[in-house]
Amino acid sequence: MAEVKLEKLTKVYGGKVTAVDAVDLEVRDNEFLVLVGPSGCGKTTILRMIAGLEEITAGSVAIDGVPVNDVAPRDRNVAMVFQNYALYPHMTVRGNIAFGLKMAKVERHVIEHKVEDTSRLLSIFEYLDRKPRELSGGQRQRVALARAIVKQPKVFLFDEPLSNLDAQLRTQTRAELKKLQQQLGTTAVYVTHDRTEAMTLGDRIAVMKDGRLLQVDQPLAMYHKPATLFVANFIGTPGINQFPGQLRHAHGKFTFRHHDLELDLHHRYKVNEPGREVVLAVRPEDMELESSREKGFKAAVDLVEQLGGESLIYATLADGTKAVVRTEGNVQYDQGAHLKLGFKPEAAHLFDAATEMRIE
Ligand SMILES: Nc1ncnc2c1ncn2[C@@H]1O[C@H](COP(=O)(O)OP(=O)(O)O)[C@@H](O)[C@H]1O
Ligand SMILES: [Mg+2]
Repeated sequence: MAEVKLEKLTKVYGGKVTAVDAVDLEVRDNEFLVLVGPSGCGKTTILRMIAGLEEITAGSVAIDGVPVNDVAPRDRNVAMVFQNYALYPHMTVRGNIAFGLKMAKVERHVIEHKVEDTSRLLSIFEYLDRKPRELSGGQRQRVALARAIVKQPKVFLFDEPLSNLDAQLRTQTRAELKKLQQQLGTTAVYVTHDRTEAMTLGDRIAVMKDGRLLQVDQPLAMYHKPATLFVANFIGTPGINQFPGQLRHAHGKFTFRHHDLELDLHHRYKVNEPGREVVLAVRPEDMELESSREKGFKAAVDLVEQLGGESLIYATLADGTKAVVRTEGNVQYDQGAHLKLGFKPEAAHLFDAATEMRIE
């Protein structure tokens, strides 16, 4: 049982840099919550405040309803896994995994038992007597995980634990980590800047930008209903297509106007301010290359990436707006080829251009 509750959690470094700005977040019991956002947005700082490694400027962290602002790190019952693994180089794998338990004065035979069980769980049993330098990156990463798991904490805190692994190992370890967490049934806060990790690992995703929390939701709910333009673009690769334009009102209808293109908004949105600057956003897979719709964006092909299972067509509209279309794997175009880009109207998202907030 463990819930983590952040209330107006704030961190100001040196009286100047607001790294975390009044973040409210509830992590549920047994939940795997992924905190995602670009580099420097305050993710590590939040984890360190939960762990007790960083002083809290304002607000609070509570674990199971108990405020822990003034509780020492070792008494919070959390375990953190760091990006660089932070193993003790002079100790064996066994020594590294056992370290926390020794400090907690756990009996020797209990430690031995736990270290062996945990190392088997993570398939590093045969390396127990090696030093970290005698291991591959992936194996070191497992030792760091084992060191966290062996403590049987209430909460796991992961700070980009896979970012030092090569792509293939990262994908494999990602799947194992998810399985492991389900097995252990422990609450986890997992920090990453990797959108794919966020989508695949998170029970819920929390998106951050500039120290603020923008949206918390289940991965697919967030993908299909992003609350802001930033979230729309950040969740999903390649990013969402953005067509800036203006609302018009004519003949009793509201339309979206982008240069010479005028689209009926079909009364789908609550818009009643002609002249309002908006951004129409469409996912690459919701775009049509040579649309047979009456209206579409004229564009010229810049580049085609054929990825086998899919192709990505990068193109530029007459006014210089960039667009990308996801389509079947065997599609090819010459550079400069003319397209008429369309999209499914029901798949378009509308945002206010100034506030970047979603318009329903
Ligand atoms: N010890 C520190 N002193 C001053 N500023 C810091 C310190 N640690 C982090 N910061 C600043 O706080 C902001 C958030 O950093 P961090 O939490 O590491 O972001 P992230 O993990 O999302 O990349 C950044 O602007 C960073 O430069
Ligand atoms: Mg970080």
